[in-house]
Amino acid sequence: MRTHFCGLIDESLIGQTVTLSGWTDVARNLGGVCFIDLRDHEGIVQVTVEPGNEAVFAVAASLGYEDVLQVEGVVRAREAVNAKIRSGRVEVIATRITVLNKAAPLPFHAHENPTEETRLRYRYLDLRRPQMQRMQRTRTRLVQALRRHLDADGFQDIETPILTKATPEGARDFLVPARMHPGEFYALPQSPQLFKQILMVAGFDRYYQIARCFRDEALRADRQLEFTQLDMEFAFVREGDVQDYVEGMIRAIFKEVIDVELDARFPRLTWAEAMRRYGSDKPDLRIDLELVDVAALVKDSQFAVFTGPANDPDGRVAALRIPGGASLSRKQIDEYAAHAAKYGAKGLAYIKIDAAGAVSSPILKFFEEDAFAALVKHVGAGNGDIVFFGAGAYTTVSDFMGALRLKAGKDFNLVADGWRPLWVTDFPMFEWDAEAQRYVALHHPFTAPAVDDIADLRTHARTAVSRGYDMVLNGNEIGGGSIRIHRPEMQSAVFELLGIDAEEARAKFGFLLDALNYGAPPHGGIAFGIDRIAALMAGTESIRDVIAFPKTTSAQCLMTGAPSPIADAQLAEVHVQVASPQER
Ligand code: AMO
Ligand code: AMP
Repeated sequence: MRTHFCGLIDESLIGQTVTLSGWTDVARNLGGVCFIDLRDHEGIVQVTVEPGNEAVFAVAASLGYEDVLQVEGVVRAREAVNAKIRSGRVEVIATRITVLNKAAPLPFHAHENPTEETRLRYRYLDLRRPQMQRMQRTRTRLVQALRRHLDADGFQDIETPILTKATPEGARDFLVPARMHPGEFYALPQSPQLFKQILMVAGFDRYYQIARCFRDEALRADRQLEFTQLDMEFAFVREGDVQDYVEGMIRAIFKEVIDVELDARFPRLTWAEAMRRYGSDKPDLRIDLELVDVAALVKDSQFAVFTGPANDPDGRVAALRIPGGASLSRKQIDEYAAHAAKYGAKGLAYIKIDAAGAVSSPILKFFEEDAFAALVKHVGAGNGDIVFFGAGAYTTVSDFMGALRLKAGKDFNLVADGWRPLWVTDFPMFEWDAEAQRYVALHHPFTAPAVDDIADLRTHARTAVSRGYDMVLNGNEIGGGSIRIHRPEMQSAVFELLGIDAEEARAKFGFLLDALNYGAPPHGGIAFGIDRIAALMAGTESIRDVIAFPKTTSAQCLMTGAPSPIADAQLAEVHVQVASPQER
C-alpha cells in the first residue's frame, strides 16, 4: 500500500514517484491549491495538490481531519522550508488520492489539550498523537534493550502462571472463580515472587521475565492495578552481586535508550539515614535540602508539642530550612501546613526571618532567648529563610517533613537537572501494625534478615534489619529486591513473627516450605517497574502515559467500560452470587 513512510521522505527522493498511506493531519484548501499534511507513525509530509488536476483536487477539497488516504505523487523540493520536521525541505505533488476511510467528526483535537478522561475514552485517537507515539517507542526500546542485555548474559526468560495462588506483596489480590472447583478461587499474581524462587530451587541459575503483576490497591500517578515488572532472580548470590549486576544493566540501558550517563557507582544510603536526612525511603537527591534533628535543642523548652516527642525514643522533632522561604505569605504557610496534614501532621510550627532579620514565629514565646538563638543557629537559618518544624512519632514526622521537602523543592525551583540514582539498603525487617497488633513485612515475607540466627531474630525483631534493597531514581522507587530466605526453619520463624501460624503457613505457603526443604540454593533478586522507568525516560509524570490502555484512578478502563456487570447465568456457571446493594 506504500513505497515509503510519510515522515521519512527527504531530499534524497526528489524527482521520484512515491506511494504513501496515512492520516489527514490537516487539509487546507487555498482555492487554487490544496495542502494536506499526511501523517503516519514516522511523521508528517506535505502533500500538495496543484490546480489543473480537477479529479485529485475535488478529493483533496473534501477531506476532513483524520481521513485515511493513499497518495501517489512526485517528490519535489519545497520553497517554504519547514525546519521543524524531517521532511520539511520537500513536498509531494499528488497525482492520485484515494480515500481509504472517512473519519467521523472528532471528539477532540490534539491541540485543544483534551482532558485525560476524553483521551482515555478515545485512547486510539490519543495514541495517534506524535508525543504518545514517541512515548510508546521509548518503552519499546527500553524493553528491547533490557532483553538484549539479559539474553546476552545468559538469563533464561521463563513464564510463570497468571492463574495462581496469592503471593503477598502488601496489596489486595484479584480473584478469579474456579468453575471446575465450586467455591474456590485463583489469585492473579501480585508478582512472580514465589515461582522465581522455586525456579532457583529447580536449578535455573539466572532468570528474568517481563511480567505483568496485579495489585488491587489505591491508584496514583505511579501506580496501576496491573503493571509490568522486569523480574529477575539469581542463584548463589549476595546482595552486592545482584546490585552490581543490575546497576550496570540500568546504566547501560539509560545510555542506550536515552543517551544518559548515570553515575559510575550509585551511592548507597541506609533506610535509617534516608529517613533521617530526607524523610523518605525514596529520596529525590536532586533537591539539595535536608531535614535537621533538633530534639536536643527543644527538649527543655516550654512547648509541650515539642518536648513530648523530643524526650521519647520513638519521637522526632525535625526542622527543614528553605532558603528564600521568608517570601511565603501567611496563606502560603497555611498551604504548607495543609500539605503536611495530608501526611499526618497535627500542626506545622515555623520560624520566619525576613530580609531585614525580623523574626516571626508562633513558637518564639516558648523559648528562652538564648535557646531560641541556638535553635536558629543549629538549623542554619539566615535572613530571608523560613524553617518548618515537625514534632510527633518518628515515622509520621519523617513522612510529612519529607513531603514538605519535595513541595519546597518544586515551589522554590530547587530541583536540579539531571539523574540521581541511589540504592536504599538495610530496611527494617518488620513494621509494627498498631491496629492489627502484629508485625507486617516491610518488603515481603520471603526477604532474609541480616542475622542468620533465629533466636537472635526473635529477640530483636523490632529492630531487625533485612537484606532488602531498593533502587531509587529522582525520587521514584524504580526497583526493589532482596536476598531471600533459603532455609525452611528461618522461613517458618519469619511467618510466625508475622502472626502466620503453622497451619496457615502450611495452607498458604506449604509448597514453598516443601521446596526449601529439598536443597534450596542461597538466592536473591530484584524487580524493576518497567512503567516507571519508561515514564522517567519519556519525561512524563504519569505512568498512564506509557501504558497503551491504562485504568483511571477510579480503576476503570474508559474505552472498554471495564469493569462491567456480568449476567446471572454466567455467574452461576462459576458458582458466584453477587450481594445485593443492601447486603453490600
Ligand atoms: P515490589 O513490590 O517492590 O517488589 O515491586 C517492584 C517494582 O515494581 C514497581 N511497582 C509498580 N509499578 C506500577 N504500579 C504498581 N502498582 C506498582 N507496584 C510496584 C515499582 C517497584 O519498585 N517480588 C518483589 C521483587 C523482588 O523482591 O524481587 C516485588 O514485587 O517500581
Ligand atoms: P499552638 O500554640 O498550639 O498554636 O501551636 C504553636 C505552633 O505549633 C503552631 O504553628 C502549630 O501549627 C505548631 N504545631 C502544633 N502541633 C505541631 C506538631 N506536631 N509539629 C509541628 N508543629 C506543630
